[in-house]
Amino acid sequence: MIHEKDMKFIINGQKPLNGEISVSGAKNHALKVFPACILINGDINISNVPEIEDIHRIIEIMQDLGADIKKIADNQYKVNTGSISKTDLNPELIPKLRASIMLAGPMLVKYGQVKMPHPGGCVIGKRPIDIFLSGYKKFGAEIIENDDHYLITGKNLKGTEIFLPMISVTNTETFMTMATLIPGKTIIKNAAMEPEIPALAEFLNLCGAKITGAGTPTIEIEGVNELNATDTAIIPDRIEAGTFAIMGVLAKSKIKITNCEPKHLESLWAMFDKIEARYKLGKNYIETMPAIELKATNLKTHEYPGFPTDLQSPFTVLLTQTRGMSMVHETIFEGRLFYTDKLSKMGADIIMCDPYRVVINGPTPLYGTKVESPDLRAGMALILAAMVAQGTTEIDNIYQIDRGYQKIDERLRNIGVDIQRINDA
Ligand code: EPU
Repeated sequence: MIHEKDMKFIINGQKPLNGEISVSGAKNHALKVFPACILINGDINISNVPEIEDIHRIIEIMQDLGADIKKIADNQYKVNTGSISKTDLNPELIPKLRASIMLAGPMLVKYGQVKMPHPGGCVIGKRPIDIFLSGYKKFGAEIIENDDHYLITGKNLKGTEIFLPMISVTNTETFMTMATLIPGKTIIKNAAMEPEIPALAEFLNLCGAKITGAGTPTIEIEGVNELNATDTAIIPDRIEAGTFAIMGVLAKSKIKITNCEPKHLESLWAMFDKIEARYKLGKNYIETMPAIELKATNLKTHEYPGFPTDLQSPFTVLLTQTRGMSMVHETIFEGRLFYTDKLSKMGADIIMCDPYRVVINGPTPLYGTKVESPDLRAGMALILAAMVAQGTTEIDNIYQIDRGYQKIDERLRNIGVDIQRINDA
């Protein structure tokens, strides 16, 4: 039997890239649409679903609850949650996926209770769930915290006003989704504005929900009695699109990135302008072109529409190849710069000031070596570094990369990357 942990990527660097690469559906949209289906009656057809580990895990957890989820074609699923028969989220499956927290809210609203182990996910920070718990309580739920799980109950939830103490994507989505079927009016203030949030609201509204303001800092939801199925499509993955664009600039290559929404990445284009990258934007495509010389710049991550934390690691790789000194300031997650020791091992000149900030001096040549993927986005960044490094890089623990990028090796080979997946068992 082949275990994912035995798989690795072998990348021979410095090959020119060319051609087209198409963007998959957004992981962080699909991961919210599937759980929202718990509140919706009937068969829901979801298209443009990325075939990635995280999505297969959330489906597995929902099937374990009794939901009927069938793959009807590649990237297309039919979901019916009417057959859900239990309210205990599987303690073996939940820790594999942080986004499994998205299931608890809808389960509580629909069935009046849920038993939830602590969710897992990328090791990019402490990732507490305190804001979720206090939100459930504001709706009127009771929570009993045990050593290994939470028991959350609430049969008479009521609409409420929630001010998020931190702008949080999954909290905004959870409370917005829950409130669609909770009697009364809910107002979420200091809400996150990531494009996946208005996309989720649009889907719920088509099912009969009454949500206004999604995509702004204040979202209002008027509870309705029922939601009924409608077909929906997952929006293009802006993080994948941005990563491919950074890849084209880094490899000084002309590539075309298709099936994407360039307007979701304005902060990346602003940074491209600062480093003097050459690129062209169409309505649903991006083209990169070789630049003469790239300039260093400072980068600070921020909630949307600021620079996404999920693009910080690929952009940091790019900054190792720009002229001058750059500072990268990660403001969202406290553990999201530790992968830079792997870039240093490959030849980058990076000084860590504190867990939130690094200083980079560039450009420095990178050299192939053996590295391990610490998490999803940093793993992808290591592929980018390997692509421009001299010699061969071996990346272990690629399960972390497969969690978020569909058939990434095959798709990168099509634009000229020399990448092989091998089984080391
Ligand atoms: N936070 C709390 N308490 C909570 C929840 C969050 O303190 O109860 C903190 C977090 O620790 C963090 C900050 O709030 O410091 C913001 O985190 P947020 O809740 O916005 O992150 P998230 O919703 O857990 C989503 C994406 C992440 C992405 C972030 C930021 C999903 C499934 N995940 O996470 O995606 O980095 O928003 O945009 O949507 C990834 O795809 O690799 C990934 C990690």
